[in-house]
Amino acid sequence: MKTKEDILILAIESSCDETAASVVKNGREVLSNIISSQIELHTLYGGVVPEIASRKHIEKINQVIEEALQEANVTLNEITAIAVTYGPGLVGALLVGVSAAKAISFATGKPLIGVHHIEGHISANFIENKELEPPFTCLVVSGGHTHLVVVKDYGVYEILGYTRDDAAGEAFDKVARAIGLGYPGGPKIDRLSREGSPAAIQFPRAKVDGSDYDFSFSGLKSAVLNYLNSCEMKGIEVNKADVAASFQKAVIDVLVEHSLNAVKEYGLDKFAIAGGVASNSSLRATFETECRKQNIEFYHPSPIFCTDNAAMIGVAGYYEYIKGTRSGYDLNAIPNLRLGER
Ligand code: KG4
Ligand code: ZN
Repeated sequence: MKTKEDILILAIESSCDETAASVVKNGREVLSNIISSQIELHTLYGGVVPEIASRKHIEKINQVIEEALQEANVTLNEITAIAVTYGPGLVGALLVGVSAAKAISFATGKPLIGVHHIEGHISANFIENKELEPPFTCLVVSGGHTHLVVVKDYGVYEILGYTRDDAAGEAFDKVARAIGLGYPGGPKIDRLSREGSPAAIQFPRAKVDGSDYDFSFSGLKSAVLNYLNSCEMKGIEVNKADVAASFQKAVIDVLVEHSLNAVKEYGLDKFAIAGGVASNSSLRATFETECRKQNIEFYHPSPIFCTDNAAMIGVAGYYEYIKGTRSGYDLNAIPNLRLGER
């Protein structure tokens, strides 16, 4: 059911290798969530090939938008505004979504709203947790980003820490490649870890000098590569499940320690996770247990809203819309857009 007062956001996301469109009602109700994934294509190359991603987005974007409108049973005329991811991400990929959104906005006269991709990931938590409202602490862990933030209000963030080198998901992908699991590595390491021992190999838990909340994963990645090389040189057969489980535990230990210290220091009793790595079953289970012990309310999106999708952009777009944020037709793709910047 929709009424004239409903705010319907048509959202578009094309920052990496998913072409996605969605219709979101009043910020919290997802009427459609269409995702066309290019993962199979990029698997052939062991990672995302930017030029191929852009071309595939162009092929798919109109079809995905049409499907999103159809599934939501709304016409373009009934849409209130168009939200689109304009950064960060791959510039050529972002441009496809931004251009489509601008064209629809120009043709229909509906407002255009540029949305930050990470703001989208964080906002995915509002979809299934109807009672969740800022302020809360949030850990964003994706293929390109690792951020620990305080969500002070809708669209208002204080960044406590971020990664100095590799993102958490990137580390998962690189280690997966090193042990021959292929791309994307996160879900494969997650699965294989269940057959291994997290205590089998002592990998380092990196601390960043002078910062309690920053992360660094490149040393851990090198430690795994060194371990694999030394096994090879000594002719020792590698137990891949043990490597996966021990690596995963090293990442999770650091993510959990930093996050819960931040929750305590900032006196907030609500904590959320977001981004592709937030689907990790062991990460979720550890937060579930630790938060229960410490009386912290723990929130996470379902896996479908953790991975790149447009529904999360529709939610963030809604809160920007009601705050009065509008973008002009000069909206451009910004590959290294920082959280909190416009
Ligand atoms: O948020 P996302 O879909 O894209 C970016 O914005 O980067 O995140 C993708 C990342 C990839 O690195 C992928 O390996 C990782 O999320 N990932 C996982 C899991 N599922 C996806 N990492 C660990 N465990 C998982 N179950
Ligand atoms: Zn993402």
